[in-house]
Amino acid sequence: VSDNQLIVVSNRQPYRHTETESGIEVERPTGGLTEGLDPAMRELGGTWVAWGDGDADDAVVDSNDRVLVPPEEDAYTLRRIWLSDEDVDRYYYGLSNRVLWPLCHSFPGKIEYRGSDWDRYKQINEEFANAVIAEASDDPVVWFHDYHLALAPSLVRAQLDTQATLQHFWHIPWPVWDVYRVVPNSHTLLRGLLGNDRIGFHVHRYCQNFLSCVDAAIPEANVDWERQCIRYQGRAITVESIPMGVPVEDIQAEVTSEDARAQAAEFEADHAIPDEARVAIGVDRLDYTKGIPERLDALAHFFDANPEWRGKLTYVQNASESRSRIPAYREVQETVTDAVSEINEQYGTDDWTPVVYTTKRLSRQKLLGLYNEADVAIVSPIRDGLNLVAQEFIAAQTSNDAALLLSSNAGAHDLLGQHALTIDPHDTRQFSSTIETALCMSPHDRRQRMGDLRGIVAQNDLQQWVDSQLDVLRASRQVRPE
Ligand code: UDP
Ligand code: G6P
Repeated sequence: VSDNQLIVVSNRQPYRHTETESGIEVERPTGGLTEGLDPAMRELGGTWVAWGDGDADDAVVDSNDRVLVPPEEDAYTLRRIWLSDEDVDRYYYGLSNRVLWPLCHSFPGKIEYRGSDWDRYKQINEEFANAVIAEASDDPVVWFHDYHLALAPSLVRAQLDTQATLQHFWHIPWPVWDVYRVVPNSHTLLRGLLGNDRIGFHVHRYCQNFLSCVDAAIPEANVDWERQCIRYQGRAITVESIPMGVPVEDIQAEVTSEDARAQAAEFEADHAIPDEARVAIGVDRLDYTKGIPERLDALAHFFDANPEWRGKLTYVQNASESRSRIPAYREVQETVTDAVSEINEQYGTDDWTPVVYTTKRLSRQKLLGLYNEADVAIVSPIRDGLNLVAQEFIAAQTSNDAALLLSSNAGAHDLLGQHALTIDPHDTRQFSSTIETALCMSPHDRRQRMGDLRGIVAQNDLQQWVDSQLDVLRASRQVRPE
């Protein structure tokens, strides 16, 4: 996009500066949004507007709250937004993560709505919108991301001229109308999003759900189902599904590095994983949507039903802490810790720990090395917008000798379901027997499936996602009337 300025807007920032004993250090957050967009921004340049949540973030910015990142490359500008403790409590933990997150993942029972959170959500969306307007030069392409910023597009639209292109990518599911309608102000959120020219989702089903919500909630919007487009306030808004991909070439280059191998070997030694053991792996943010307790139930069932696998399969679960101020997240953390202890007590021996559980964020190299070493990956969310871990695992296979268990409720299943081993996270018996299938499958079948999966992941890689988003955008600018 050499001819127009790119402004990415998300709640979560890609780099966080923190104070340590040895000075200011830079950390990366955990999550698919920042993992996927950072390589794109490094390549394209531009400005990323996001919340500065690190305790040393304000020490490194200039007078306009900007800092160049990544530190070693200075490839793009990060413009930080400052939030007070109350903003964080009401806008981030409140409306975004106690209302919109459970709503969109169809967990209505977990919604905790407070009117004052809504007010603050509106206010912070205004702050983000004002920062975008301050950053925007002529003809910007503004790319909003996710559910924290549903109101910002229409606020920006009201202040920027029609030459600006606004688009949004919604990284989480969009629920059916009957679920969506339970939340107060749901119409206002839709109107906010309709400030965009284009709205993207990972899978077709979420687009259909979104269109039917607009159809039901916004009388003056006209939904063209055939063209997947909405006419609203004299504009046409395109709604489309493009699943995000992973940087396949980078992963393949990194996974074969000495460093990745050494780090994986070190991890296995540190956790006393027996050399001859087969390894299954799960990597998730510790979120109730990820189905980790259900996975551990299936694993316990597996060791119970298949005693011959005791001592021969080690399950590595990396679960990085997330949104811990919310009780539902603390509950799932406790449930997981307890379930891991129970399995290890019940089945473990002096020289074998069935579940190796780590909560520290793993470095990229270590993670890739572990993917490559593992025989099986288990991705079993109750509901997930897409899931990048499944795709990263596939991209990291060099010999194709590994299997992927994938929940039919992950968006990624729409892409990979045909060649993955499908599980239903609630069906413990079926889940457990699929673990056995993965381990006992003939090497030929395993290689065939993984080869097919690798083909799909390579064809839909991150580059393709970014190109298709920004290409269509450029084309739409050319046909837009002056
Ligand atoms: N991740 C990481 N280190 C960890 C755990 C996770 O880098 O210790 C990354 C993982 O590689 C993936 C992202 O965090 O790129 C998680 O994205 P996903 O789409 O699977 O789930 P999300 O957390 O966005 O719901
Ligand atoms: C998901 C969401 C992202 C979010 C990430 C990590 O991927 O779609 O918007 O950044 O989880 O969650 P956090 O609350 O730490 O930003």
